[in-house]
Amino acid sequence: MCGIVGFNGKLQAAPILLDGLSKLEYRGYDSAGMAVRNDEGEVNVVKAKGRLKALSDKTDGGKTLPGTCGIGHTRWATHGEPSENNAHPHCSDDGNVTAVHNGIFENYQEIKEKLMKSGYTFYSQTDTECAVKLIDYYYKKYKMGPIDAIAKTMVRVRGSYALCVMFKDYPGDIFVARKESPMIVGLSEGNSYVASDVPAILKYTNKVYYIDNMEMARLGKGEVEFYNVDGEVIEKELVTIDWDAEAAEKGGYEHFMMKEIHEQPKAVKDTINSVVKDNKIDLTNLGLSDEEIKDISNIIIVACGSAYHVGVVAQYVFEDLAKIPVRVELASEFRYRKPLLDPKTLVIVVSQSGETADSLAALREAKNRGIKTLGIVNVVGSSIARDADNVFYTLAGPEIAVATTKAYSTQLIACYLLAIQFGLVRGELTAEQSINLIAELQTLPEKIERILTDKERIQWFAAKFAAAKDVFFIGRGIDYAVCLEGSLKMKEISYIHSEAYAAGELKHGTISLIEDGTLVISVLTQNALFEKTVSNMVEVKSRGAYLMGLTSYGHYQVEDTAEFTVYIPKTDEHFAASLAVIPLQLMGYYISVARGLDVDKPRNLAKSVTVE
Ligand code: F6R
Repeated sequence: MCGIVGFNGKLQAAPILLDGLSKLEYRGYDSAGMAVRNDEGEVNVVKAKGRLKALSDKTDGGKTLPGTCGIGHTRWATHGEPSENNAHPHCSDDGNVTAVHNGIFENYQEIKEKLMKSGYTFYSQTDTECAVKLIDYYYKKYKMGPIDAIAKTMVRVRGSYALCVMFKDYPGDIFVARKESPMIVGLSEGNSYVASDVPAILKYTNKVYYIDNMEMARLGKGEVEFYNVDGEVIEKELVTIDWDAEAAEKGGYEHFMMKEIHEQPKAVKDTINSVVKDNKIDLTNLGLSDEEIKDISNIIIVACGSAYHVGVVAQYVFEDLAKIPVRVELASEFRYRKPLLDPKTLVIVVSQSGETADSLAALREAKNRGIKTLGIVNVVGSSIARDADNVFYTLAGPEIAVATTKAYSTQLIACYLLAIQFGLVRGELTAEQSINLIAELQTLPEKIERILTDKERIQWFAAKFAAAKDVFFIGRGIDYAVCLEGSLKMKEISYIHSEAYAAGELKHGTISLIEDGTLVISVLTQNALFEKTVSNMVEVKSRGAYLMGLTSYGHYQVEDTAEFTVYIPKTDEHFAASLAVIPLQLMGYYISVARGLDVDKPRNLAKSVTVE
């Protein structure tokens, strides 16, 4: 969950580290630090508690840390409170080894005790300090080179890590190692970069190497060498990333979240076009044959957070269009509950980052049990993308705001496309029905665009409720699934307590929370459920609720019950979530802005949750 950047080349390192870290702040932002080696070979470390700005101010934008080789870190605390002392980089007692780390060393206590017996002292509460000192211990005790000392440490520690290490005796190099935490290496003329994620270095190069589990690398100036855990040199493939640097910038918007909300029409369109050719869906690039699709007995969708909410929508759509039984599970539950899996099950793992620890573990659990897996993933080359048997890449581009918007929307699209194709191949949809559904999908980008042109109305309404204490979202069927996402958007960035409830379930307890003026947002896009949900709206209204209705044009009778109504364009009901979610994303955004909060980096959260 932390962000790492390293640079070794012809330019001043500190400004590049700060710039790269600013692109990774979404991964953690409670403290930050840099270690830069100057021309005399001395390593200077500066750390600051709080946002990256504090580190930038402390080093005058990096100017007070001269040198062309350095490593930097932005932290999301796991072991030890957020403080300057616990911030990375960490150093061995004599400054021989300096390192930054993303991940968790699970057996750090045991290592700490062993090292203390050998005379090491500890200044922080972090697991990282233990690993740094273990590297130093092996390096000195066995008089081995950096690669061997790191490899020995990799075998000794348990847990996950992306590590970036500098040795006093090797002033020309940075060493890196990886297990389970993402890390990429990039090269440009005379310069080498290492980072936890592509946006950190995209401005400088789009040619990257992905470091795999239990691999290491040595970065010289503009050159890199890779090693396996036995210390043998290995070859790796250079991958060209086709995201442009601009995609990772705010582009005139005040926040990444708003920019990403506006990028949804394009992201949705690109994702549709990636598999739709001549009004037909072609899944050849995913590697899923018609025979395999016909052979599937049931689907389990596994994911976390918003990606899980996509799964809840997909469940309705798959079952209705393809008539396949679908179960949706939280990855953190699935991985530990010893699920009964039919050999013909397809496990679909949905993940923007492709690095979410629980989703990755669930994927591996399914694979170990011999079950076919499909990843719906945004980040190319991420762990889930590489481990899944088949991958459907969503084309959302880099998503920087912690609260997902465009990735969620493209994940929905991927699910719709799969459901249509599964329905067609399994004989549940005719060719004509499939063509009509695809044609309807293709209208979604323009319809999302239309909703966005009316965003000021939502802004006005959001400002009225910026001081709300509780908000409830109610709906049935797919509308309930949208409520789950709307409610998460609201609470994660505005810090207002909110709950999503299946509208018919309210009266079984939750309705007692409704007081005079409590905001209840009701989603009504499903014709067959419309009247039922209106009845539930009336129930809460008679207990004092203030009602906002969210429905499709034509359902004007909602205004008889709701105090404020937002309309979305009509679409096939299976796809209504793609439109209904947009006003809810805007609601969360505008309330957060009205409350003066940090929309893109809400407290306690990180974009990519690489710990359990
Ligand atoms: C909420 C949000 C999270 C993620 C979740 C899974 O706005 O972004 O709930 O959806 O952490 O992340 P990925 O999709 O990267 O696996």
